[in-house]
Amino acid sequence: DIESDEMSFLCVCLLLQVMEFYCESCETAMCLECTEGEHREHVTVPLRDVVEQHKAALKTQLDAIHSRLPQLTAAIDLVTEISRQLNERKNEAVTEISNTFEELERALHQRKTALITDLENICSAKQKVLQAQLSSLLQGKEHIQSSCSFTEQALSHGSATEVLLVQKQMSERVIALARHDFPERPHQNAHLDCQVETEGLRRSIQNLGVLLTTGAVAHTSVATGEGLRHAATGQHHTITVTTKDKDGELVRTGNAVLKAEIASVDGNRAAETEISDNKNGTYEVGYTLRTEGEYTFSLLLYGQPIRGSPFRLRAVKPSDVPQSPDDVKRRVKSPSGTGGHIRQKAVRRPSSMYSTTKKKENPIEDELIYRVGSRGREKGEFTNLQGISASSNGRVVVADSNNQCIQIFSNDGQFKMRFGVRGRSPGQLQRPTGVTVDMNGDIVVADYDNRWVSIFSSDGKFKNKIGAGRLMGPKGVAVDKNGHIITVDNKACCVFIFQSNGKLVTKFGGRGTSDRQFAGPHFVAVNNKNEIVVTDFHNHSVKVYSADGEFLFKFGSHGEGNGQFNAPTGVAVDANGNIIVADWGNSRIQVFDSTGSFLSYINTSADPLYGPQGLALTSDGHVAVADSGNHCFKVYRYLQ
Ligand SMILES: *[C@@H]1O[C@H](CO)[C@@H](O)[C@H](O)[C@H]1NC(C)=O
Ligand SMILES: *[C@@H]1O[C@H](CO)[C@@H](O)[C@H](O)[C@H]1NC(C)=O
Ligand SMILES: *[C@@H]1O[C@H](CO)[C@@H](O)[C@H](O)[C@H]1NC(C)=O
Repeated sequence: DIESDEMSFLCVCLLLQVMEFYCESCETAMCLECTEGEHREHVTVPLRDVVEQHKAALKTQLDAIHSRLPQLTAAIDLVTEISRQLNERKNEAVTEISNTFEELERALHQRKTALITDLENICSAKQKVLQAQLSSLLQGKEHIQSSCSFTEQALSHGSATEVLLVQKQMSERVIALARHDFPERPHQNAHLDCQVETEGLRRSIQNLGVLLTTGAVAHTSVATGEGLRHAATGQHHTITVTTKDKDGELVRTGNAVLKAEIASVDGNRAAETEISDNKNGTYEVGYTLRTEGEYTFSLLLYGQPIRGSPFRLRAVKPSDVPQSPDDVKRRVKSPSGTGGHIRQKAVRRPSSMYSTTKKKENPIEDELIYRVGSRGREKGEFTNLQGISASSNGRVVVADSNNQCIQIFSNDGQFKMRFGVRGRSPGQLQRPTGVTVDMNGDIVVADYDNRWVSIFSSDGKFKNKIGAGRLMGPKGVAVDKNGHIITVDNKACCVFIFQSNGKLVTKFGGRGTSDRQFAGPHFVAVNNKNEIVVTDFHNHSVKVYSADGEFLFKFGSHGEGNGQFNAPTGVAVDANGNIIVADWGNSRIQVFDSTGSFLSYINTSADPLYGPQGLALTSDGHVAVADSGNHCFKVYRYLQ
């Protein structure tokens, strides 16, 4: 078997020969003899050359992991400190509970003593009255009894003289006694009860004491609101912090320890911030800045910076405030998955973004900033829009496929212009699907049905067409750093790379399931390393290639889980190399890091997507997506 063969081979070498050579294919050292043996066909090199090379490589790798140690040490220290603090807090809380309840017990005891004392006092006061009454009654009774017996004695046994003597003396006394007013009716009552209403108290005691804690952590918690980055001087702004746990799940309870600080460039505190706890996991942070300038806005949750913090905040005079795209935002819910069309246009209203009233915006409802369009043929309306792109000068360019035109908007959603004559001649559009803007501002359009790529100037004048006769069905298009035009031929399952004059640089791909093949490529994006990112619709994956078409890696599989796809379409790469992918069949947008690890979803739940196609990053850092099934495009914030 292979393993023992290798062993014996190694032993022979080790015993008999000096190891002087290295086989690159087998990654093994060997003697001169063996270079002629089973390694005959392989490339062998002198061992010492390889050793130096490998040493250098290992050293580099070692340095790379070595450099991670300080970070890990810091993380260990931090987590250890949090764990220590947690125990400390627990002990403090236990002490506090004990103290509080001992105090309560003392208070209860005091109250019990006070009640009993009062009871005794009242009782003895009442008894005093009753005792006084009793003694005067008893006294009366005794008088009457003694008078009676004395008189009766005299009457039955006395002599005549005695009777006469007694008669005078007694009749006065008997008359007086007979008339005397004894206190025969009670001077007090026996009423003395104690009623202790304990039901409510018992209930209070049962619920006495709440433990305050959350699972919120800083690195997944987010802040939203224009006030994170822009402010108008003298006006009150609020932003919203939404706390999340380590898995990115929303935290639904309040009381998290949040600190907000706005500092000027020199590090001084620039404004008071007030934080209000909505008690549902969201917090409003308000502030007013007095002077124009650049500030840093730090949001610390339990002492750690939340995602994106510190934010760079710029304050300008109210008169210099740009109009807000948020005013275009609509909260109309589309019938999810029915492809219902929402009849609404991008109506602009005067800006209220910087109004002094508190901004009523629920951040976790959705991450939509605004939507534009509805089904139709007019300006600003779409029929099955496909590609979308954004220029560095703040324009959003849309390939309105079935209306056979290109429409252009400003970054805040205002219609600017459209162009396109339908037809099959050069300069005309038949089925524009992909669109991109090159470094000169020219608009490059992949026309699926005309089977070529057209180039227009930024104001819509036709300049050139490329790929005619080669392309079978170009869908997505991108321009790389060298000005090469990269288009995905969906029908041919190929990626074509052209010079801007139309000369073919290279092409790669073909129909199939291997790494260099595609089952239905749709859109393409280029990252900052000039690598080519292609969505493979029917393979449910995203494939990444070097600038000259060498396969690098791929990610994604079929499904609905995190990082899975049901037919990926639009793709864009941000300045940090994060890859944003429209997931057509799952009607969602996923964000991945530069290596294809899933990071998050863009929350589109309040106004769901329906079969999203092209996707682009606007020059102000938002994600624009062609929501084809809803015949509109939408702009979202992400990773905030
Ligand atoms: C949280 O509370 C605020 C203020 O009462 C409210 O506006 C917001 O809609 C609430 N959010 C959730 C998710 O309940
Ligand atoms: C998106 O927002 C909704 C509220 O509109 C919320 O229920 C949902 O959990 C959020 N989804 C994600 C993935 O954060
Ligand atoms: C996707 O491609 C991989 C190879 O790259 C292949 O193994 C797999 O079967 C393909 N899946 C589909 C659904 O085409």
